[in-house]
Amino acid sequence: MYLSARAVLGFISTLSCISFAFGALSSPALAGALTKNCTQGWRHSGTAAGKNVTIAGVSTYLAEPKHHSGTKKVILFYSDVFGSFFINNQLLQDYFASQGFYVLGLDYFFGDPIGLHVDQDLHPFDPNFNLTAWVAKSRVQAAQAVPTWNKAVRERYGPNAKYNAVGYCFGALYSMEVGATDDVVAAAFAHPGDLTEAHFTNLTKPLLMSCAEIDQTFPTVDRNRAVDLLTENNKTYHYQVFSNTTHGFATRSNPDDPNSVWSMRESARSVAGWFDRFSN
Ligand SMILES: *[C@@H]1O[C@H](CO)[C@@H](O)[C@H](O)[C@H]1NC(C)=O
Ligand SMILES: *[C@@H]1O[C@H](CO)[C@@H](O)[C@H](O)[C@H]1NC(C)=O
Ligand SMILES: *[C@@H]1O[C@H](CO)[C@@H](O)[C@H](O)[C@H]1NC(C)=O
Ligand SMILES: *[C@@H]1O[C@H](CO)[C@@H](O)[C@H](O)[C@H]1NC(C)=O
Ligand SMILES: *[C@@H]1O[C@H](CO)[C@@H](O)[C@H](O)[C@H]1NC(C)=O
Ligand SMILES: *[C@@H]1O[C@H](CO)[C@@H](O)[C@H](O)[C@H]1NC(C)=O
Repeated sequence: MYLSARAVLGFISTLSCISFAFGALSSPALAGALTKNCTQGWRHSGTAAGKNVTIAGVSTYLAEPKHHSGTKKVILFYSDVFGSFFINNQLLQDYFASQGFYVLGLDYFFGDPIGLHVDQDLHPFDPNFNLTAWVAKSRVQAAQAVPTWNKAVRERYGPNAKYNAVGYCFGALYSMEVGATDDVVAAAFAHPGDLTEAHFTNLTKPLLMSCAEIDQTFPTVDRNRAVDLLTENNKTYHYQVFSNTTHGFATRSNPDDPNSVWSMRESARSVAGWFDRFSN
């Protein structure tokens, strides 16, 4: 279902180019501020198989494997700005569950995902919508919720489960943060925003970077710098970049573009394979 998604073209042209200022950064930026590109893409359709549970007081999308034996493998899913209950993200989480993982995606937008500000075709309702202010508000909420939620998920599945973290765009920062702790065995991100060099040097767990070739938020020069930092610091990593894809391809691909669809599937397959490698 995930792979046969039908979708609608949507693009937003009225939001102005926006930059999210981080006042005093102690480390140089490596993935830029979220822009209107982070709110664009194609809506997929399908039937979500997961459920809505509350963990640490936060609504959480939960997708579980049909069959399970042996060590439990868990994925902490940090969504893009559309949130863990957006159909594309539900179908992606369902895909990971079909690969044997317990997948949990917290709603760190607390009922106010970007979808409330764009229509069915992902066009904005309100040309005056201030993305910068919305991102800043959401960052504060997420920074408060994520650590407590991570802990509660670990309590739910216990010390013997293998935990992994994947973040898309807005969510990449949380997979990098937890990837610097012993709370996960591996981390991954796709088309990230709002990262600094310290996220890469602090990292202690293996990292998969799934990247779009055309991405103003994480352009070639920044991607190369990230690889240099990982290499110089002896990190375990895998870097993949998909030609002729744009920011958002891993969650909001264009179903009428075979390259975009292949890249989205391959990104998801790579994330599952990466986590499998460190979860046994
Ligand atoms: C969005 O991405 C396109 C390339 O796909 C680029 O031309 C455009 O400048 C980007 N806009 C912003 C605000 O980043
Ligand atoms: C999930 O459940 C909570 C608690 O019942 C509710 O407040 C929230 O709106 C639900 N979220 C979705 C996306 O259904
Ligand atoms: C959008 O919000 C930011 C942060 O709150 C603020 O600095 C900026 O002036 C706002 N932009 C507009 C056009 O209102
Ligand atoms: C990196 O680690 C240092 C030392 O623990 C910490 O002060 C800093 O906030 C971390 N930076 C990021 C971006 O996580
Ligand atoms: C990385 O590994 C090499 C070879 O083992 C070693 O010489 C170097 O000091 C290490 N660098 C860091 C930053 O740990
Ligand atoms: C990139 O993909 C577009 C369709 O989205 C296609 O029209 C174009 O020819 C492709 N460019 C390259 C260099 O493959």
